[in-house]
Amino acid sequence: MTTLDTDFVRAQFPAFAESSLRGQAFFENAGGSFTCQPVIDRLTRFYRSRKVQPYGPYEASRLAGEEMDEARARLAAMLGVKTDELSFGPSTTQNAYVLAQAFRQWMSPGEAIVVTNQDHEANTGPWRRLADEGIEIREWAIDPETGHLNPEDLAELLDENVRLVCFPHCSNVVGEVNPVVEITATAHAAGAFVCVDGVSYAPHGLPNVGEMGADIYLFSAYKTYGPHQGLMVMRKTLGEMLPNQAHFFNADTLYKRFTPAGPDHAQVAASAGMADYFDALADHHGITGDAAARAGGVHTMMRAHETELLQPLLDWLAARNTVRLLGPRSAQGRAPTVAVDVGRPALEVARELAPHGIMAGGGDFYARRALQAMGVDPERGALRLSFVHYTSKAEIDRLLGALEKTL
Ligand SMILES: Cc1ncc(COP(=O)(O)O)c(C=O)c1O
Repeated sequence: MTTLDTDFVRAQFPAFAESSLRGQAFFENAGGSFTCQPVIDRLTRFYRSRKVQPYGPYEASRLAGEEMDEARARLAAMLGVKTDELSFGPSTTQNAYVLAQAFRQWMSPGEAIVVTNQDHEANTGPWRRLADEGIEIREWAIDPETGHLNPEDLAELLDENVRLVCFPHCSNVVGEVNPVVEITATAHAAGAFVCVDGVSYAPHGLPNVGEMGADIYLFSAYKTYGPHQGLMVMRKTLGEMLPNQAHFFNADTLYKRFTPAGPDHAQVAASAGMADYFDALADHHGITGDAAARAGGVHTMMRAHETELLQPLLDWLAARNTVRLLGPRSAQGRAPTVAVDVGRPALEVARELAPHGIMAGGGDFYARRALQAMGVDPERGALRLSFVHYTSKAEIDRLLGALEKTL
């Protein structure tokens, strides 16, 4: 397998050349990543020369509309789904909210939805609120020690009443990668659809949603090197079955059915820059094939780099008996999103890390249910150290040095 060229990678991100950020290592990537150059270029170009109503009969408008279509088509191909199965909304939270309204109309009282307490609130709260409409909510609960979501426990929650299973590809505090293929197969066998929150996973490589089999897959472009958009894969079978949430005359256009807000034209267009970036990585590293294959190759390379950098951090934290490392101790099958209970308000520790050139976060990260279930007071919160493929070994060393002085 090709090794990721981090110099090449970092050259694609203006943040690394920014003097105001010099000497600071970024470890709050799970909150939002740096933006890659092609996205910034496209956003700037759009605002300068294409900022007109798109899809009109004049040149600037035609280019604007084409760029928006290009973003959807290229990213959908990378995700292994059809172009009209991918849509853009203001955020994942809002996309999930709209979906919950569609399911509310589609389901009957007495039918059930399975939710987890491992999720960010975005993929659990809107579903839980359907209890007010007579929908039964069943909680698939994590192990209080490890935060692990056991697929065997799901089987016990399923019966013919369950219409939907909502779960994260990876939690933003536990970090463990859940086996989406296996979980989806279990849900499908019981006649239920799945809604997967991929927000914490997608920054580590775009998954092949088509191959994984998920009916709905959500992620946020501002964490995958792009602009502030929520991306939603909605497979055709389910999308045509659920009631339309958009203007009545848009009901026949799958990618508009669950995004009632008017699109942010510039940001949708600029999202094509994420495809440029992943393609540039593929080209640079000699990865070939169709769009999904190239994205898959890039994904594998990113994960290998991250896994190598992650293990020393996990080992260091696991050996420190004044802190509790949440989630798995092995980098395999784990995202480099590492939350630790530091026994005092986590934000204080994040603040103390800042003068050492570490940008990290402390809080509940909207995963209050997961923290509570693991016995961590959400008010105290967790210190979160999250990185991605552009992080270097030198930055990990800097982090370990700063933790040594702070924890
Ligand atoms: C795992 C996870 N899901 C969902 C969200 C919500 O995404 P958005 O900010 O696009 O609504 C976040 C944001 O932090 C997240 O980390």
